Amino acid sequence: MPAPRVMFVNHTSKVAGAELVLLDLVRPWQGASAFLFEEGPLNAAMDRQGLKVITSRWGKGLSTIRRDRSLWKAAPLAFRLGGIVAEIAAAARRHDVVYANSQKAFVLAALAAFFARRPLVWHLHDIIDGAHFGSTQRRLQVTLANRVATRVIVPSNAAAAAFIDAGGRRDLVEVVPNGVSIVPETSEREAIRKALALPDAPLVGVFSRLSPWKGQHVVLQALAKLPGVHGIIVGDALFGEDDYAARLRTLAAELGIEDRVHFLGHRNDVSELMRAVDVMVHPSVHPEPFGRTLVEAMLAGVPVVATDAGAASDILEGGTAGTLVRPDNADDLTAAIKRVLADPAALQAQLDHAAARARTHYGVPQMLDTVSDVIQRVAAKSGV
Ligand code: UDP
Ligand code: GLC
Repeated sequence: MPAPRVMFVNHTSKVAGAELVLLDLVRPWQGASAFLFEEGPLNAAMDRQGLKVITSRWGKGLSTIRRDRSLWKAAPLAFRLGGIVAEIAAAARRHDVVYANSQKAFVLAALAAFFARRPLVWHLHDIIDGAHFGSTQRRLQVTLANRVATRVIVPSNAAAAAFIDAGGRRDLVEVVPNGVSIVPETSEREAIRKALALPDAPLVGVFSRLSPWKGQHVVLQALAKLPGVHGIIVGDALFGEDDYAARLRTLAAELGIEDRVHFLGHRNDVSELMRAVDVMVHPSVHPEPFGRTLVEAMLAGVPVVATDAGAASDILEGGTAGTLVRPDNADDLTAAIKRVLADPAALQAQLDHAAARARTHYGVPQMLDTVSDVIQRVAAKSGV
């Protein structure tokens, strides 16, 4: 049987966690296509992976529209959205399977796949709940998934449970944990700190795009209660959260900790920077669908303190491979960071266990095999 012709669809061309996963996933599918809504770094990256990139005429800027915005407010966009559906449908007719990688891509790709009569896989990287999406959006996503998708891939049991709770069909769901790898160490921890002009002080790091639900503000509140401790805030506002990014800087000043908080913006050397910190904090205040940085820190041998919301508990094995704290609680976070900083040597066994767990449970090859198998099965089922 010839390999199915796959078209991967993504709405944003900025590169966050879901796009990093996609860049790995397309590797076995040389000659496949990527349909992207806009120009951006993902287009060139997909091209480098050997995919034929198709860029929409109508999708520019849609990625910065807030996803909890009401559908009615999106009404003036209807013409452009219709244009994208038509483009995806036309391209889908030249392919055997449509693979939607993001929530906005899914909604439009579902309509297109329906019109083009092509099977659709949805790789759902989100938690479909009231904290992340408005009720109309949730209903629309689940209704389209139940009627049009052949499979729904999710990265965690938390994402699966949310989809099913929102009314999604259980039989569609396939849990495929994200595969994560990091670059091998090239610089010494001291050299990295020196390059960042950081003092010789305890250092906490957050490595995430800036967004209110990612919870960087709680880390600042904790740092205010940890005199002498410095923090690096790595990441940028990727999807229109510029007000939040500005608010974080104001908050650091209000808390009087601006000399101890270092905003580094988006970086392409996260795993190197992680090795320079004493604690990696994952502070999401709403459930995290997966959280690649948790696994990256485990692989890098860095202690993790994460909020117990979404997938973190599974990834950290209920607290065996890291410390879990209550979300949106600066006191809990402060206490947990203090404990880690007080006796780092006591954590060595936990760190070894976490690294081994990351390698065995969250490998890239496993993810590629499982997803490729899903695509093959979907293609075979539809008679391609
Ligand atoms: N990341 C990065 N540079 C940054 C901040 C984050 O390369 O400045 C990477 C990070 O290493 C991780 C991904 O972006 O691989 C974020 O994925 P995650 O699942 O943690 O969260 P998302 O942003 O997708 O919700
Ligand atoms: C999304 C989620 C994140 C997940 C990533 C890859 O961006 O917010 O938790 O790790 O997708 O699945």
